[in-house]
Amino acid sequence: MNQKIKKAVFPVAGLGTRFLPATKVSPKEMLPVVDKPLIQYCVEEAVAAGIDTIIFITGRTKNVIMDHFDKAYELENELTIRGKTGLLKTLKGIIPPNVSFVFIRQPEALGLGHAVLCAKPAVGDEPFAVILADDLIANRSGSGCMTQMVQQYDQNQCSVLGVERVDPQETDKYGIVKTTEVSPSVGKVDLIIEKPAPERAPSNLAVVGRYILTPAIFEKIETTERGAGGEIQLTDAIAALMHDEQVLAYEFEGKRYDCGSKIGYLQATVEFGLEHEELKDDFRDYLKNLALD
Ligand code: UTP
Repeated sequence: MNQKIKKAVFPVAGLGTRFLPATKVSPKEMLPVVDKPLIQYCVEEAVAAGIDTIIFITGRTKNVIMDHFDKAYELENELTIRGKTGLLKTLKGIIPPNVSFVFIRQPEALGLGHAVLCAKPAVGDEPFAVILADDLIANRSGSGCMTQMVQQYDQNQCSVLGVERVDPQETDKYGIVKTTEVSPSVGKVDLIIEKPAPERAPSNLAVVGRYILTPAIFEKIETTERGAGGEIQLTDAIAALMHDEQVLAYEFEGKRYDCGSKIGYLQATVEFGLEHEELKDDFRDYLKNLALD
């Protein structure tokens, strides 16, 4: 029987060291791009793809994420009294109807693979999505990245990795795959390596923060030794999974902003600012004047 992708795991237990001191007490997933936290963009992307259960893998400093997706009675009451109906609608819209939120604590930041393994009791024996909220992906001309990935899963019934071409000098920041082409945007993964130096990289096709995985991944993570950086790497578990099952790489449509890095975060802020209904005209004028200075 074909299974549908209904659950998405959001690992949010990383230390976010690249954004210190901003991430000392506040998680990087709560950094706003204009007026919405990163995590909310990604939850919206998941819900648009038909996902109805969001599983957060959290760590210290992450309670604020739980609060963000909880009802804020006092604030709602205050906005009602003040007649701020627009804001009230925005606030209520944070929690999508018919979606459940599950929170699991990762006791120690032992790596992305370990974070995904923490979701096993909530995922059970079904395929699931993994979304890294610091990769913000906008597809201005069509469906969201996770919707595209779910379509690939529905057609192929196997694990699907979201990939994009990166600067060949930057392969050491990503899991890199070597593939055999199946169609122009889909390849069968033959090899996957975590953060290879440019001279060792088999390609410049990088795995970014979107995955669909079959439940067989859990057993593979359980037997994965600590790898690069002393962490249990999801990439190593995927490499083991490939021995038993087909894994596909999918070059999604859309633009990715690496909001785990300062430059990527600034780019997202500028570009989303230039599209924001309330701000775009003033912001464009401001940037023009700044460029003329
Ligand atoms: P990153 O490699 O971006 O690490 O993790 P990080 O700790 O979040 O950030 P930096 O590099 O120190 O600045 C990739 C994703 O995996 C999650 C992170 O929250 C992020 O979404 N993660 C990582 C965990 O949930 N647990 C871990 O043990 C490690």
